[in-house]
Amino acid sequence: MTAQLNPRGDVAVLVPAAGAGVRLGAGGPKALRLLGGEPLLVHAVRRVAAARSVRTIVVAAPPLDVEAVTALLAPVAPVTVVPGGADRQESVAAALAAVPAGAEIILVHDAARALAPPELVESVAAAVRAGNDAVIPVLPVVDTVKEIGADGVVLGTVDRSALRAVQTPQGFRRAVLEAAHAASSDALTDDAGLVEKQGVPVACVPGHTHALKITTPFDLVVAEALLSGLSP
Ligand code: CTP
Ligand code: MG
Repeated sequence: MTAQLNPRGDVAVLVPAAGAGVRLGAGGPKALRLLGGEPLLVHAVRRVAAARSVRTIVVAAPPLDVEAVTALLAPVAPVTVVPGGADRQESVAAALAAVPAGAEIILVHDAARALAPPELVESVAAAVRAGNDAVIPVLPVVDTVKEIGADGVVLGTVDRSALRAVQTPQGFRRAVLEAAHAASSDALTDDAGLVEKQGVPVACVPGHTHALKITTPFDLVVAEALLSGLSP
């Protein structure tokens, strides 16, 4: 059954899904790789569409797969599909350009975080609605972190208590994200980084373990286990 988006919702979600998935290994674009028998992108879009505030979803697909992705997502939720770019930032910019007027809160997600739950989408959106210009979901860093020199020898141990691992969806007031993308020159791995460069404060909300990024074959195994309920 196709999820209906909320026409009175105030949130547009951009889903960059145009990456090659080099670190996952051979098997085609990562967003189309299977998890529990369904493409990662289907899992991601289904969970986004289940969030009550979402009015619009724009997916940036691998340029050669725009038609296939459009057909794949038609039974899942109403989405707009655009061709992605050469890096994630270009894909986000392409999706951002396709957001219609009306959605004043924009969330940027990753197809690779296929199991991020609807509650996380809502909590990020709520924090923007509450007045924050930019919001990121974060988790504490559990490993001890060290800085290593070019010679491979430890330079020092970083104070872990001040560090956080950052997830998506990241949320922004629309004008803030548009200004940050318009001003950006060098490519960054997340959108909050662009906004930080504009001097805009970025607020944090608790992340979710299910929003792990599927990057390597190991991550895919973990996600399969999560999905099948073997480990909560
Ligand atoms: N992405 C994108 N357009 C690109 C590159 C990445 O839309 N040109 C998307 C990916 O599809 C993914 C998200 O950005 O959903 C995060 O990127 P990453 O996890 O690095 O995915 P890939 O770039 O596909 O993986 P890799 O770096 O291993 O090739
Ligand atoms: Mg990448």
